[in-house]
Amino acid sequence: MADSRPKKAKICLCIFLCLLVVGVIAVVVGVRMWRHSSEHMKWNGTGSTAHFQEIVLERCYNYTQLVQPELRDRDCQKIREAFRNAFISKDPCSATEEDYHPLMKLVNPTVPCDKTVFWSKTKELAHQYTKVQREMFTLEDTLLGYIADDLNWCGDAGSYEMNYQSCPHWKKDCSNNFVSVFWDLVSKRFAENACGVVQVVLNGSISNAFDRKSTFGRVEVHNLNPMKVHTLQAWVIHDLGKFPSDSCSGSSINDLKWIIMQRNIKFTCQDNYSSGKFLQCVKKPEDSSCR
Ligand SMILES: *[C@@H]1O[C@H](CO)[C@@H](O)[C@H](O)[C@H]1NC(C)=O
Ligand SMILES: *[C@@H]1O[C@H](CO)[C@@H](O)[C@H](O)[C@H]1NC(C)=O
Ligand SMILES: *[C@@H]1O[C@H](CO)[C@@H](O)[C@H](O)[C@H]1NC(C)=O
Ligand SMILES: *[C@@H]1O[C@H](CO)[C@@H](O)[C@H](O)[C@H]1NC(C)=O
Repeated sequence: MADSRPKKAKICLCIFLCLLVVGVIAVVVGVRMWRHSSEHMKWNGTGSTAHFQEIVLERCYNYTQLVQPELRDRDCQKIREAFRNAFISKDPCSATEEDYHPLMKLVNPTVPCDKTVFWSKTKELAHQYTKVQREMFTLEDTLLGYIADDLNWCGDAGSYEMNYQSCPHWKKDCSNNFVSVFWDLVSKRFAENACGVVQVVLNGSISNAFDRKSTFGRVEVHNLNPMKVHTLQAWVIHDLGKFPSDSCSGSSINDLKWIIMQRNIKFTCQDNYSSGKFLQCVKKPEDSSCR
């Protein structure tokens, strides 16, 4: 009986310590959750695409099994993981090419010579073109471009979650966000890998069909390898019913021609196609109206 008091005191102390520990944990968890929910609000761009991971995996399976069965040995689970690991738990405004190196190692570009098609402000038409000409490739017809096309993604430093509320806007927040760095990197690799005759589909219904600030003008043109690429063939497409704003003889195409010739690559340019006629001529190049 004599030692019942100290025993009670010990039990009390134990309960007190337990409560203290639980309390501290609750406060820490609470603060972290509060910080996360407020962190999720801070960017000016659209948040990550819903079901990003599932879409990446599904597109990867689709591509490696249906679109390019020669790539069926690629490990889509690994690709999905490497993609996620590139940006998860990182400050979404401090992306570097190195972050994507493990992903790039899993997927090397494989476009055959003479089959590369660039586009600038003509995305839809260029994709219709490569759909008709099945063996031609835009960046979005390669595995990584196909997987990431029109998706958005970012994480948060100190969280394993993706941020579905908002992501950095390239102009209003930062240009070194994970989406911009990804597209610049895959565009660069796509251009470096090109060989033979390469084509670019440009928009003649805007005032500068060639724009030095576009991905094509900023990244792709400068990463063509003159040892491998001998000709750049430009198509300047005019929208039907709109007055042509630019053409092969315009100053923006001259600018492109100058850059390409400086790099020891031959330049040719085709004018006066509407999108419909362009596609029709892709299907039937022997038609007399297509010469
Ligand atoms: C899968 O690939 C086929 C063939 O290219 C395409 O028609 C289909 O839309 C793709 N499905 C998904 C979910 O991407
Ligand atoms: C050219 O640009 C205009 C304006 O952005 C757009 O409406 C049109 O669809 C583009 N043309 C082609 C062939 O993509
Ligand atoms: C971006 O968003 C923040 C807060 O939501 C706002 O204060 C800021 O003005 C926005 N920046 C731009 C350039 O829109
Ligand atoms: C396009 O073709 C028409 C005749 O079909 C010609 O008059 C016009 O000058 C051409 N435009 C350009 C930009 O070559």
